Amino acid sequence: TFSLRTLRRASVFAMLLATAMPAHADEFRIAVGDGAGGTQEALGLAFVKALEEKSDGKHSAKLFLNGQLGDEQDTVTAAATGTLDFSILAINNITPFSPSVGTLTLPYVILSLEDAEKITQGEIGQQMVEKTIEDAGVRIIGWAYSGFRVLTNSKKPVTTVADLQDLVVRVPKNEIMIETYKSWGINPTPMAWSETFAALQQKVVDGQDNPYMTVHAMKFDEVQKYVTNIRYIFSIEPLIVSEQLFQSLSAEEQAAVIAAGQEATLASGQFLRAQEASIKEQLVANGMEISDPADGEAEFIERATTAVWPKFYDSIGGKDVLNGVLTALGRSAV
Ligand code: MLT
Repeated sequence: TFSLRTLRRASVFAMLLATAMPAHADEFRIAVGDGAGGTQEALGLAFVKALEEKSDGKHSAKLFLNGQLGDEQDTVTAAATGTLDFSILAINNITPFSPSVGTLTLPYVILSLEDAEKITQGEIGQQMVEKTIEDAGVRIIGWAYSGFRVLTNSKKPVTTVADLQDLVVRVPKNEIMIETYKSWGINPTPMAWSETFAALQQKVVDGQDNPYMTVHAMKFDEVQKYVTNIRYIFSIEPLIVSEQLFQSLSAEEQAAVIAAGQEATLASGQFLRAQEASIKEQLVANGMEISDPADGEAEFIERATTAVWPKFYDSIGGKDVLNGVLTALGRSAV
């Protein structure tokens, strides 16, 4: 017989079950290092939309902006161990786990958005995807393009290497970037991305570099005044998925994830083309002062390429890896 008591027990059980389960069983979590309005969020939103369409609504995902799920470098480890599903982060924060992608953070290798699209969407990009699965346990399924990492500081206009000498500059914990600043004569301060805003605000450091889109998304214009248009790194920001999670999906689901990543990548290039100029104007309207480096950046380029490239041939997998990228871009091999 079906007593009231049994019924009550059953409904309590159903309630407990409902609270223990996420609202959508198939809603993935995507960590995003930057704030709203940036290229990382744009890539993420395009990916979520495409994923919902391509999986016929079976899968969705939610973005957690501003490093809510951990600092960018920590999200690589979390995804590798399967405690995080996806992450969108700057490529320089993957390099410590997958040194071969360092080729794309070597100074003055990627010289335009078109270069970035060509390499990431071509055969070399595919090889980097495979290396990164092997080295770091995460699969790159999409790329955001964010523009050149310009130098910002709170103290003075900088146009020459000499101007840099009395500035304390934060860099990501990335050996290539640390060595690049050393080639310019200063010892930069390596620091996690999640700590950077506070460090600029409290003047623990005077400056940092990141694209205009990121400076805006992170509200750095509130704590930085001067911008120098250096172009040593064109910022590329991968969308990664935990390889453990990817392997647990059916072939059809994997195909939906890959196709959604490709669609989001194409949207990212369009987003940057449409937004970068007006974001830059907005930063100027907010009081930032922009300068170009002296002599077409000649001294920055000369010092960085001569001193830094040879130091990293071994870690990126040999000089041939760099030459493969340079040749694919129609430039001379070294
Ligand atoms: C960094 O500077 O650590 C990253 O480039 C920040 C970002 O992901 O935008």
